[in-house]
Amino acid sequence: MTRIRILPENVANKIAAGEVVERPASVVKELLENAIDAGAQSIRVEAESGGRRMIRVSDDGCGMAHDDALLAFERHATSKLRTADDLLSIATLGFRGEALPSIAAVSRLLLETRAAEEDEGTRIEFAGGKLVGVKPAGLPPGTTVSVADLFYCVPARRNFLKSETTELGHIASLVTHYALAHPDKQFVLKTPTQEIIHATRVDTLADRVYQLFGRAALDELFEITPTSSPMRASITEAELAPEEQAAELIVRGFASRPEVQRANRNGIYVFVNRRLVRDRLILHAIHEAYRNVLPPTVFPAVLLFLDLPPEEVDVNVHPAKIEVRFRHPQFVHDFARDSIRQALSRARPIPSFAGTNAQAAAASAAVTTPVADASVTAPAIAGAGSGLAGPPPAAIPPMASMAAAATAEEFELSTAPLRPEAQRFRFDGGIGAGLDAPGSEPTGEISARETAMAPASAESLAELKPLGQINSSFIVAVNGEGLWLIDQHVAHERVLFEQHLRARREGQLTGQRVLVPLVVELSPRQLVIIERISEELSANGFEVTQMGPRSVAIHAAPAGIAAADAERLLREILDGIERESAAISMDSLQAKIAASTSCHAAIKVNMPLDQAKMEWLLAELAKTEAPMSCPHGRPVVLRYSVREIERAFKRI
Ligand SMILES: Nc1ncnc2c1ncn2[C@@H]1O[C@H](COP(=O)(O)OP(=O)(O)OP(=O)(O)O)[C@@H](O)[C@H]1O
Ligand SMILES: [Mg+2]
Repeated sequence: MTRIRILPENVANKIAAGEVVERPASVVKELLENAIDAGAQSIRVEAESGGRRMIRVSDDGCGMAHDDALLAFERHATSKLRTADDLLSIATLGFRGEALPSIAAVSRLLLETRAAEEDEGTRIEFAGGKLVGVKPAGLPPGTTVSVADLFYCVPARRNFLKSETTELGHIASLVTHYALAHPDKQFVLKTPTQEIIHATRVDTLADRVYQLFGRAALDELFEITPTSSPMRASITEAELAPEEQAAELIVRGFASRPEVQRANRNGIYVFVNRRLVRDRLILHAIHEAYRNVLPPTVFPAVLLFLDLPPEEVDVNVHPAKIEVRFRHPQFVHDFARDSIRQALSRARPIPSFAGTNAQAAAASAAVTTPVADASVTAPAIAGAGSGLAGPPPAAIPPMASMAAAATAEEFELSTAPLRPEAQRFRFDGGIGAGLDAPGSEPTGEISARETAMAPASAESLAELKPLGQINSSFIVAVNGEGLWLIDQHVAHERVLFEQHLRARREGQLTGQRVLVPLVVELSPRQLVIIERISEELSANGFEVTQMGPRSVAIHAAPAGIAAADAERLLREILDGIERESAAISMDSLQAKIAASTSCHAAIKVNMPLDQAKMEWLLAELAKTEAPMSCPHGRPVVLRYSVREIERAFKRI
């Protein structure tokens, strides 16, 4: 690494400044980032008493020469930045030269370091920001920073810390994130009594997810295989300098199948150039990708990695470096959304019959015994840490049940002995968990339908043979995979939704005139909304005119909608928009109208269907992009696999 220098004042002043150390996890974050920046291959973190008594981070990175080691504790001393221009393309995790002095100011700190090319290492001690000793020492190459008695000289801060378990949970969550971002490095997290994480280096992200969360978690996810786009594809070339025209954005990661539904965003992790960030733009892109696959009030679990040239991202916008600003936000947003959406449409999962029961049992177990089964996971993950050859960590609960079992609140209330393992695998530490101010704990988590699922192919649906209906509402069908139930209403809704949306986008929707115009009374607010969306309404086949101060007349409605239903449909569309915030995107407006229209036009339940109709419906469903869930996110099909049937008959 290049030599450390003190930043000139004009550069230092340009850096987003603020509190660096808020809790033990923030110390771990800074030290981990330093180790990664130093090119370490193996990083070991030790924590005692939730990191209050001791945090030690050891790495095998480039180390520091004696003079550099001393200089590192000056404010704005960094080897990663030279000039104000360098701030425009930051390729390292650190750049402020703030972390070590800030940590040293509020703890007893011991730095032991040796640059590989030096014969001797250096040991430096600080207490409350004061240098208390510098000695040469025989040390292995690399760096170890030990931070003892955090906040010992700042009692107000010390008293703010949460329970040991919570603080350790945040540390575990952080180490987990960095381990995910760097599958090619080894990460170990230990307490005096337990090895919490032991992730040896692996070749793929999938292997890392397996190491950290187990097979069940992996089964809930589908991979977003790397997709890349030259940034110039959508940015006019005039905007880009020649050297920028080769700039590429790469998106990859994992996202949950539609059956996995979370009550909040805590299962979403976004990494930009391997830095965990909290970014509203990307969250929005994720939300958009799942629109009409998940109901609007629930969230997926997503691990998203965006890699792009450093000059395309400004990381110098937040003192804790957890927010970024993109130079071409719209492009990044749309490309991330499309990459997830494409992967999602390929994933095509099916909920199984058995899932409903198993899930109910898992959910209630998680609620009544919050951390009960967590203890079994410790040896399992330690075993898994030695690589995929070891026994699979079968005992690790799937992410969602983990979440249910490991909400922060439960830990605060829990009088049970320390069981950090329940927290450490939670995929849901929350974005930037451990970076937030004390008190902003992640909220509780529920999960709805999920568990046993199997990926389906379009073919497996296309091969379905309908046998009949239950209650004139659910089609019973079979194929080589097993027995299927299809909710005829939502299946038809999915088919119509996609047709409607496609036709709308091609500008080919037509309306159907009603014999007698329908007069509809509206509230002033609804009248304003109708005015705002009038163009879109007519593009969808509506013809609506103002009648009086409070009423409108419907002269035509989208094809397939019975006259009697037209008023209800219009009200539903207006209601849906009223509930949204003021700004609704064109995409989302179109999808809303399509969803409402298809719901009203679809075959109802309690309607007998003949063989030909059932066959037609299943064939049409097989052709849709997301045949497994309706536009409102409800499941369309349930499958009882041959294996489940054999198991139920005790044949296996
Ligand atoms: N583990 C390490 N191995 C090698 N060098 C290190 C290590 N930790 C710190 N350094 C050196 O010390 C310098 C100061 O570290 P510090 O974390 O205070 O600042 P920074 O990483 O440059 O910026 P930031 O404040 O954004 O983290 C670094 O620039 C780096 O040169
Ligand atoms: Mg640093």
